[in-house]
This record gives sequence, C-alpha cells and structure tokens, in this order.
Amino acid sequence: MTNESGQASRTSLWEPTRVTEEISTGAIHRVLSDAVKLELAGVADLHNKVSGALQDPKPLDICMPVLDAVLAAQYYEVFQALDLPKDMTVYEPCVGASCPVILAAEAHSGGLASYLSLNLNRRLREQLRAKTAHVKMPLDIIEDNAQEALRHLHPGSFDVACFHHAVNDILQTAVSEPRGMDTTDIDWFPNERQMIEWLAEDAAAGLLEQRGKPELMQVVSDAVRLVRPGGYLLFDHFNWCRFIDVDWFPWDLFYNLIPMTRQWVAESTLPVAELRLEGVNPQWWLVLQSSAE
Ligand SMILES: C[S@@+](CC[C@H](N)C(=O)[O-])C[C@H]1O[C@@H](n2cnc3c(N)ncnc32)[C@H](O)[C@@H]1O
Repeated sequence: MTNESGQASRTSLWEPTRVTEEISTGAIHRVLSDAVKLELAGVADLHNKVSGALQDPKPLDICMPVLDAVLAAQYYEVFQALDLPKDMTVYEPCVGASCPVILAAEAHSGGLASYLSLNLNRRLREQLRAKTAHVKMPLDIIEDNAQEALRHLHPGSFDVACFHHAVNDILQTAVSEPRGMDTTDIDWFPNERQMIEWLAEDAAAGLLEQRGKPELMQVVSDAVRLVRPGGYLLFDHFNWCRFIDVDWFPWDLFYNLIPMTRQWVAESTLPVAELRLEGVNPQWWLVLQSSAE
C-alpha cells in the first residue's frame, strides 16, 4: 500500500472498514456506473455486507452488488501494493461480463491505464460492453481463445495479467469444446453446470493432465511472456458456500484451484517467483512476478 507521503507501507490488504470506504465514497465508488452507485446506496448495513463479501468461501447471504465492488477494491489494493504505474497495461484472459479488474484499473490509474482481454463468449462480451460504457480507459476485447494470445499481442507489452476467477473458466472450456459445446455462442450460465460436471468427471478419472492442464498452462505461460520483466500475474478464485454438499459440484477441486495452479507453475520452468502480500490468503490468491531478464 502507498500512504499519503507516497511511501510504501506494510498495511494489511482488504481491511473491511477501508474497503467499505473505498466502495461507498472512495476510489472504487468514483468509477462505478450511476446505476451501480444507486444500487449500493440502497444497501443497508454496508460494513457487514463488505465483511461477508471478504470471507472465503463466500457466505450464503452474499449481496451481489457489494461483492462485485469488493472484488474491484481487492484488485485495486493489490495494484496499489505492487505500485503499478498509473499508465499501466492490463491483460485479462476470460473477462466474460465481469468488471472487477476493469474498475480496479480505472480507479488505480484515473483512466490512464489500458486494458485488453481475450474472451470467447459473445453474449457475455455484449453484457460487459453495456456495464463498462462509462469507463474512460480504452478497453479492447478480442474474440479468440487465450491460448492464441501471442498471435495478437507482443511479448513484454503488459504490466500485469489478471486471471480473475478464470482458472475454472479455462478448464471448463477445455473439457467442453472437445465434447461438442460451442462456448463462443452459448448462454453461459444455464450451460455452466454441464461444463462443471464434465470437468468433475475428467478430474475424477485422472484426465486433467491430458485435458485441462495443457490448456491452462498454455494461457499462463503466454501471459508470463506477455508481461514485462518484473511484471506481475495475479490469480484469484472463490467458492460459494451454497455449493457445499451439492452432489454434482466438485467442491475439493474448486477449493484447490489456486493451490493446484501454484503447483503446476512450480513444476514448470516458467521464470516467475511468488510474492506473498499481507492479508492475502494463498488458498484463494496467487501473486507471481516475472523474473525474466
Ligand atoms: C463466466 S465468464 C467468467 C468471467 C470472469 N472470469 C469471472 O469469473 O468473473 C467465463 C468467460 O471465460 C471465457 N473463456 C473461457 N475459456 C477461455 C479461453 N480459453 N479463452 C478465452 N476465453 C475463455 C468464456 O468464453 C467466458 O466469456
């Protein structure tokens, strides 16, 4: 974190009172759309809802507009803690219709950053366009598989790559496309259970090494090449308590997606080192820094 005199401080990230301030009057609030600001203004007992949204796994009584803003505040505080430049370049594979990284970059940079995603699903991309119409920063969404990132983008051209809840997206796509599901064209959420069931089936059969891991590691290793030397890769995941004991949901696999990614990266030869930030739970977040020359 950076304090008022611009010096790095050792403040723990994501303190609920500070996050509540960021989303209700501060840096994140300023970059929300008018519709979301109105929605948040109507939320009673905001501090409690923020504390709930910061918990992992996510509790049953989660308030969605608060969770979305809190996720943006979490990325914002990580960008601050890493002291990323205001005019930073941000790569996010698999954005879908999800705004936290975009809002965090807009807040951190005052609109000076630039942002790019490779994303397959078209309907979610259109929803994202509507949700981000007010954002000042240039947003570029390329419709392609993130495994093809180096066909579109130059190595070393990004300050940070953000895998926001994207490990499962990449695994789900990897097991669903070969089974005939065209994930570019579907209505994502009504089809997601089927994707997760296929993923669970493959994981139980020990098949992830052949399908899932290669696709994820391709996207991750391309992202390592896309960030500049000293640049960062951020990964987060969270689980919903409502899936505890749901028979078709692979709780253990999803609980351990970040530790599994950490292990696969550690077993690779990728030139990265892990950073641990105070207050950031390594079960749900992974922060890597490129050590490439
Ligand atoms: C449900 S959205 C999730 C958005 C965001 N990651 C989140 O969890 O909030 C999933 C998105 O990931 C995209 N996706 C999954 N695998 C992908 C891949 N290999 N390349 C590009 N996009 C991918 C899908 O097309 C879809 O738009």
